[in-house]
Amino acid sequence: MRGRFVDKLKGEQAENSVAHYLITGVAGFIGSHLTDALVERGETVRGLDNFSTGRIENLAALRHRIDLHEIDLRDARAVAAACEGMDYVLHQGALPSVPRSVKDPRTSHESNVDGTFNLLEGARMAKVKRVVYAASSSAYGNQPGFPRRETMCVEPIAPYPAQKVMGELYMQSFWRVYGLETVCLRYFNIFGPRQVPDSPYSGVMAKFILQMMQGEQPIIFGDGEQGRDFTYVDNAVQANLLAMHADAEKVAGRVFNVACGERHTLNQTYRLLAGLLGFDREPEYGPERAGDVQNSLADITAAAEAFGYRPQVGFEEGLRRTVEWYAKEQGVRSRV
Ligand code: UD1
Repeated sequence: MRGRFVDKLKGEQAENSVAHYLITGVAGFIGSHLTDALVERGETVRGLDNFSTGRIENLAALRHRIDLHEIDLRDARAVAAACEGMDYVLHQGALPSVPRSVKDPRTSHESNVDGTFNLLEGARMAKVKRVVYAASSSAYGNQPGFPRRETMCVEPIAPYPAQKVMGELYMQSFWRVYGLETVCLRYFNIFGPRQVPDSPYSGVMAKFILQMMQGEQPIIFGDGEQGRDFTYVDNAVQANLLAMHADAEKVAGRVFNVACGERHTLNQTYRLLAGLLGFDREPEYGPERAGDVQNSLADITAAAEAFGYRPQVGFEEGLRRTVEWYAKEQGVRSRV
């Protein structure tokens, strides 16, 4: 079945005009926003997804404007075939969530480490010009010292951050050894429209918004004073597009924080969301989550200097846009 699919893909590549951008995790939260931006710019996009967490609805109107393939990153042969003819790769595909990786480290390891390796091998063989990789702020762990700078060592706690760091190391290795240009973007808690809100592994922002809209009581794990550098998705899109085309001497083989450079606690975030949604219940607190990072705050000067990254959408504006989007999606009226 797989073999036939790969042959079909190869045949299509020969016949069709070749797409230049490959997005892995194309139907996912961040991948689909990148797709919107690239298609809007008139670029040609090929997208891969195994639809384990990605959703076809995220691609909506673009479904027929991109070259979409159902491929699992663990399928080395299919991934390599998909890389053929590509110039640039945006590697967003991963099995996210710290708690998921604590519960089932093998499955997330296979997607996040083996999958990233398969992608790099495919990109190297296909002579791709550059790969931009979705790395994670969780790499910094709980070491002292804020804001987080890329020069700090990594101290991953849970399997998920360890896997994402492994991906960074592979990215850097492929640059050093094979000259494949790679750039790692450490995302700091990206949020916005299309983040899965209803899974036990959902990011806190989407999860709380849906719970408040449905009149359910969100639970804050711990005392709620843990802080995050929550970053609206448009900022991550901007960072990817800039990093993809910046001078190689400024970015190749390097790691950059992508964030807003502000820390907001969960208690603050809860109050703001509750205000936007007219949710009047006080937060409830539960036990701390295993593998959780206490605080997260980025220094974003490296990305600003290397490729002119400046967050365009601040935290509160991002919250408003996100709530507005979910309200529309759920058909629930909010006070936005
Ligand atoms: C981590 C990474 C992030 C990455 C993400 C991928 C850090 C600092 N960030 O996010 O960059 O994109 O993994 O999955 O490591 N919480 C509650 N109640 C809930 C759900 C969550 O209180 O119902 C709390 C969590 O305990 C945590 C915070 O909200 O303290 C954020 O959790 P979550 O949204 O899952 O993201 P991180 O694990 O911080």
